[in-house]
Amino acid sequence: MKPVTKMGAVVLVLFTIGAFISPVKSLNNGLALKPTMGWLHWERFMCNVDCDTDPNNCISENLYMQMADVMVTEGWKEAGYEYVCIDDCWPSHQRDAKGRLQADPKRFPRGIKKLADYVHSKGLKLGIYADLGTFTCGGFPGSMGYYDIDAQTFADWGVDLLKFDGCYMKWTLLGEGYTNMSIALNQTGRSILYSCEWPLYEWPHHQPDYAAIRKACNHWRNFADVYDSWDSVKTILDWTADHQDVIVPAAGPGGWNDPDMLVIGNFGLSHAQQESQMALWAIMASPLLMSNDLRDICPRSKQLLQNTRIIAISQDPLGRQGYRTAKVDSFEVWERHLSGGRLALAVMNKQEIGGPRGFPLTLATLPSWKICHPQCNVTQVLPSYKELGVQTLLSKLVVVVNPSGTALLTVTPI
Ligand code: GLA
Repeated sequence: MKPVTKMGAVVLVLFTIGAFISPVKSLNNGLALKPTMGWLHWERFMCNVDCDTDPNNCISENLYMQMADVMVTEGWKEAGYEYVCIDDCWPSHQRDAKGRLQADPKRFPRGIKKLADYVHSKGLKLGIYADLGTFTCGGFPGSMGYYDIDAQTFADWGVDLLKFDGCYMKWTLLGEGYTNMSIALNQTGRSILYSCEWPLYEWPHHQPDYAAIRKACNHWRNFADVYDSWDSVKTILDWTADHQDVIVPAAGPGGWNDPDMLVIGNFGLSHAQQESQMALWAIMASPLLMSNDLRDICPRSKQLLQNTRIIAISQDPLGRQGYRTAKVDSFEVWERHLSGGRLALAVMNKQEIGGPRGFPLTLATLPSWKICHPQCNVTQVLPSYKELGVQTLLSKLVVVVNPSGTALLTVTPI
């Protein structure tokens, strides 16, 4: 079922994935019924613990309080972004006398519970990070041997999401570790969304068991960390398309594939490339966890991240992940089935030379265009909003796509 490419020729690959709904049971904690939306510190702020010289950008309680403030005042919360998430490098290097993790006292003088109270007072939720091995990837204390204590500590603090990393752990024990932490979280009685990296660490050794992963986790990272570059975003998309027959069926309400953070609003992507990331993350039913500086973000990036029509595609209640259906003349077509028999279509222009190029929407380039028999209504969402009106199988509709950009459309059958 691997896609085939032939330059110059129109080669379409049809997937049977679209024909079935995820058969696999999800983690039954009532969370992540739609892809999680929020903010996560890692890609933008990394392991900056130097609050003496860089107080505004170091990993400290101020950073999360300021992000929470801005999320409310600048329309992020209203757009659906809900979780403010701490990544690595928050803890002290020592556990306390009772074996509990504690936040670095200098950078989090009021502790995580107070931070959670603050975030909750804004109507938002707090995420935290830990690791199932002996250390976190950044070298802070791991949770190995402490799963129950750590789960209970996070619950006592009022934490709402746990990102559980897989560094410093024998790969053969990943399944046991991730499953045991899932049980430990459940036993606290608090609703804690569980974000895993289980398959990412298993792929180098064997194909992960997605039924088991979906039963334990609310989302799971499959592939390498996102960087602030178009190359990185492209590599993630290629990996996803190359493995879509394995991973797409695992996604659905309660459990999602996680291609990592949105880097929109940073330094590495052109605006067209930012549109591609946003469009494709919506098509892939990915968690929308931004890693950027919401205190200082360019208005165009903000508008893109808060675009209600794209967010509606991401959060579509049917909860089916989309997938790549064609590679044609350096275009890629991705499709996602939406509720009400509608379709979301993303046409990405992979030719990184020249100007905008037209892509004809016809039955020949796009078998799912049959949705337009006898008629359909087409809306262009990106690069600009446009009602393209009623179309039929005979229409000669051409969408124009910027180099490394994406045209995002919704198609409603009439
Ligand atoms: C791993 C994860 C990243 C981030 C870092 C933190 O690389 O994949 O997302 O959490 O660890 O050290």
